[in-house]
Amino acid sequence: MNIVLLGAPGSGKGTMAQKLAVELNIPQISTGDIFRKNLREETPLGIQIKNIMASGQLVPDEITIEIVKNRLAEPDCANGYILDGFPRSLVQAAALDTFQNIDIAVNLDVDEEAIVARLSGRRFCPDCNGTFHVSTLNGANVCPACGGKLIVREDDTEATVRNRLAVYNKTTLPLVEYYTEQGKIATVDGNGSIAEVYARVISLLKK
Ligand code: AP5
Ligand code: MG
Ligand code: ZN
Repeated sequence: MNIVLLGAPGSGKGTMAQKLAVELNIPQISTGDIFRKNLREETPLGIQIKNIMASGQLVPDEITIEIVKNRLAEPDCANGYILDGFPRSLVQAAALDTFQNIDIAVNLDVDEEAIVARLSGRRFCPDCNGTFHVSTLNGANVCPACGGKLIVREDDTEATVRNRLAVYNKTTLPLVEYYTEQGKIATVDGNGSIAEVYARVISLLKK
């Protein structure tokens, strides 16, 4: 199954994608994770996008589309994949439709207060891309999955979060209508615990 996860920053796309990838045995393709890896490794792409990411703007469509197109052509995507954070503009969505068939776009709908609470407590593991929340770590600063050192994402500052939400509302939210018109949208209540939201998502996908 070829799945797109839609939702605001902090709506839980990465959290759900990681669990779905294990259960459905298909890869999670996170453009954010790909870009952050390039930042850390200071590749030419990483240097080019550093300021864009830090301010919460979108990386240019041409760059992003090319990366995703190449990634989806790899053999591990042959039986399906979960797109986490792509597409996030109408240009990206239209481009995706020229080289892939999407089965479903799951839209995680979360209240704004919950989003702020989630992002302000997020911890990220650069070693395995694991995403956690301080409230579940009992004060530890190591990744429960791989033992790596957890960090706070550079774009989780208050000003950048505000900008990311504004960019989402302006540029990404129109994708809900785009996939509705294609008859592919499935909106899920993304409020509640991780287990509750995951149960909603998986029951929808297994229908
Ligand atoms: P990206 O990495 O995609 O960030 P984002 O869309 O802002 O989304 P987040 O990763 O912040 O949130 P999420 O929905 O994955 O939530 P998470 O599961 O972590 O993009 C970063 C940047 O890269 C962009 O700003 C842009 O510059 C660039 N970029 C990426 N893709 C691009 C594209 N296609 N085009 C152009 N530029 C692009 O959860 C958040 C927190 O909440 C965690 O702490 C988690 O533990 C917790 N949590 C999750 N679910 C629950 C729950 N149900 N209950 C309680 N806590 C929960
Ligand atoms: Mg994410
Ligand atoms: Zn880890």
